[in-house]
Amino acid sequence: MSETLSSDFLSAVPLPALLIDQSERIIEANDDARTLLGQNIVGRHFATILRQPPILDAIESCLRNRTARTCPHLANDGAQDTTFEAHCRYVPKIGAVDAGAVLVSFQDITHLEQAGQMRRDFVANVSHELRTPLTALMGFIETLRGPARDDVAARDRFLSIMAAEANRMNRLVGDLLSLSRVESDERVRPRGTVGLVAQLKSTLKSIRPLAEEAGVTLKLVVPDDPVEITGDADQLRQVFTNLIENAIKYGGSGGTVEVSVTVSDRDPALRTAGARVLVRDDGPGIDPVHLPRLTERFYRADDHRSRELGGTGLGLAIVKHIINRHRGRLRVESNLGQGSVFTVILPR
Ligand SMILES: Nc1ncnc2c1ncn2[C@@H]1O[C@H](COP(=O)(O)OP(=O)(O)OP(=O)(O)O)[C@@H](O)[C@H]1O
Ligand SMILES: [Mg+2]
Repeated sequence: MSETLSSDFLSAVPLPALLIDQSERIIEANDDARTLLGQNIVGRHFATILRQPPILDAIESCLRNRTARTCPHLANDGAQDTTFEAHCRYVPKIGAVDAGAVLVSFQDITHLEQAGQMRRDFVANVSHELRTPLTALMGFIETLRGPARDDVAARDRFLSIMAAEANRMNRLVGDLLSLSRVESDERVRPRGTVGLVAQLKSTLKSIRPLAEEAGVTLKLVVPDDPVEITGDADQLRQVFTNLIENAIKYGGSGGTVEVSVTVSDRDPALRTAGARVLVRDDGPGIDPVHLPRLTERFYRADDHRSRELGGTGLGLAIVKHIINRHRGRLRVESNLGQGSVFTVILPR
């Protein structure tokens, strides 16, 4: 292959790719390789450009023994660290005196690494969340078998704590299943028709006992006409239930939670006809530093308080996926001491 041919060939390879011949210099590089490694790399000795021992090793051995080699290569694209797999393959009859060269191509595997990391974090989080109530249960079982065996009062007290811990595990498993179901059908558009006003009325009705127990006043402000949207009724109920429950739980007793619906023919966030459901509380609010991460799985703004109230930290993650499935948006506005407003924006 002549040199022009090899450069045409490299420019068609959809990965950063370069050629190193027996003179140990880079004789060709495509645009992607220049973006990755620098604009003036052609003509340079490869060891001055690629400084990481694994890839130097791989290239040398491929030049010498003509064997294919693959090795990791780390880089940084300015915004984040990136991980590549560098593939070295011998190409005969190319380069100085046709002595052959090594084709090095770089495959970006950053997203694979990130997915792997997310999976590991998730498993670690789930294990941790399950272990806490499990450890408590095991402790109480021990106590009931031993020291508290004949203590009727203690036994009743322990059993009710055990029931609460078991409930917590049950809720966690339920939320995990719900999250995985929501994630798996996130790409399937919902088809049902949901009357938002009627649905909010019935959701509020079922939450009312919780509000009364917490001494919270619930208010519903809706337009006169029914607001119909295309959606999945069960999932939307889950969204509103969690937002209103949160407002009651974290808004604090004695407060007011106001749920309101507004419609517009052109919602600025969606650029099409939309409906907004606002859930407003006048509680302690959320420190703005937490807002960007609030919808992450297991993220809690006030860890201690949330656990005490039996929260799993999965509610808003589920909410976000459901709203995504409906092509909607979730907005959170809050300041410490000034309550919070969660806004669900849905296309109509
Ligand atoms: N209205 C609110 N006011 C103050 N903090 C809130 C409010 N809503 C949510 N938060 C914070 O956001 C966190 C995440 O909420 P999310 O609904 O995801 O989890 P949770 O309520 O703890 O658990 P779950 O909903 O699974 O029972 C909460 O733990 C709480 O710290
Ligand atoms: Mg919640």
